[in-house]
Amino acid sequence: MSEITQEKLDQIKTYINRIKQQPYPGSYLIAVLHRVQGMFGYVPREIMDVVAEEMNIPTAHIWGVATFYHYFNLKPIGKHVVSVCMGTACYVKGADDVLQALKRELGVKVGQTTEDRLFTLQEARCLGACGIAPVIMIDDKIYGELTAKSVVELIHRYRKAAGEKTA
Ligand code: FES
Repeated sequence: MSEITQEKLDQIKTYINRIKQQPYPGSYLIAVLHRVQGMFGYVPREIMDVVAEEMNIPTAHIWGVATFYHYFNLKPIGKHVVSVCMGTACYVKGADDVLQALKRELGVKVGQTTEDRLFTLQEARCLGACGIAPVIMIDDKIYGELTAKSVVELIHRYRKAAGEKTA
């Protein structure tokens, strides 16, 4: 995740200027938002205004697109995104216990980010690993056959690794 700096704003404007040379620049809005999220980890409201002005598109329309696609984050997200599968197989095998344990351990609700910005908690539908339900995904790694206890241990491992990197 990075701060909004003049340099980043200039990069966005340069990118949009290149797009403006294309036949239908407005159709590149999703590509622009994708780039913005790649730079900041989310789509900041202030940047939507910049994109609106540069592309000559109302901010309300950009907001509509960004909120329609769940892919776009509208708030800063944590270093690690923890997605708890609440699909049927996982639910039957205790996904809710895992979710409640995560909420307690992280001190956040679904959709929120921890104060230290280390974790964002999300729910997901079938992650395609029903055979090892209940399953969670942390970033792009799948963990299965979890319990309320083992998921907390897993979070401790990530915290420890983050602490070691900053130490
Ligand atoms: S239902 Fe959770 S991985 Fe399929």
